[in-house]
Amino acid sequence: MTEILRQKPALRARVAAWKRAGERVGVVPTMGALHAGHLSLVEAAKAGCDRVIVTIFVNPKQFNSASDLENYPRTEDEDAAKLAPFDVDTVYVPDPEEIYPEGFATQVSVAGLTEGLCGSHRPGHFDGVTTVVSKLFLQTGADRAYFGEKDYQQLQVVTRMATDLDIPVEVIGCPTVRETDGLALSSRNLLLPPEARAAAPALSIAMRAMAEGLLAGGEIGALRAQAEAAVLGAGFETLEYLELRAADGLAPMTVVDRPARLLAAAWIGGVRLIDNIPVG
Ligand code: PAF
Repeated sequence: MTEILRQKPALRARVAAWKRAGERVGVVPTMGALHAGHLSLVEAAKAGCDRVIVTIFVNPKQFNSASDLENYPRTEDEDAAKLAPFDVDTVYVPDPEEIYPEGFATQVSVAGLTEGLCGSHRPGHFDGVTTVVSKLFLQTGADRAYFGEKDYQQLQVVTRMATDLDIPVEVIGCPTVRETDGLALSSRNLLLPPEARAAAPALSIAMRAMAEGLLAGGEIGALRAQAEAAVLGAGFETLEYLELRAADGLAPMTVVDRPARLLAAAWIGGVRLIDNIPVG
């Protein structure tokens, strides 16, 4: 049975013993509702580290809507069952006061990278992410941390944060895992009504078509308009953003003259989905 720890002192004692033995510790931070995307991070951590900690904490500070926080799936028993075959060393499910004790008054905030894309549509979201992730890095003392490229802006922000704060952790991005129809795996997919789930792959299909058009030298405005029409025509309620950004640093781009990423967020069936793909 995988060990579940809920308090910092127990976690610290475990990690201290591993470090004394010269072992490399990896962490996979999650909010639970684990799917094959998370499990691919666990596999990468197992391959790259001697010890692996998976953290599960639904972080209230990164939700900018009370109903989103309330509806977020919480599936601890199923998560433990999914992790069992991977034989991770510890699952850390901190009690809320281990993360935000009485009187907690600090916020970690990254400038620049958090402006635009999800940052424009989810005020305070990235401050919540960087605050909790910095705490998880420090509490676990991990040498390596594994994040999915599916949350590409988050990956860039967390990498910047660790560098800027001299947190001695190597942040490793791992490829997005998709359903066979192309839908990027996300815990939020569980919330999609059946009709919306059936239509949801239209987002990645439209993004791939736009990426191909850009690489063929097409004009970004026209390609974006076609992609938006395809997404809305398939049943999405809104396309929040669909933007071409530099793969490193997320600067806005209009032509593919260096490695780029197409990033999107869109609503379907009352659920907000995000996706991104490499371009060039
Ligand atoms: O990607 C997530 O699941 C969360 O944003 C994270 C990194 C676990 C922080 O709460």
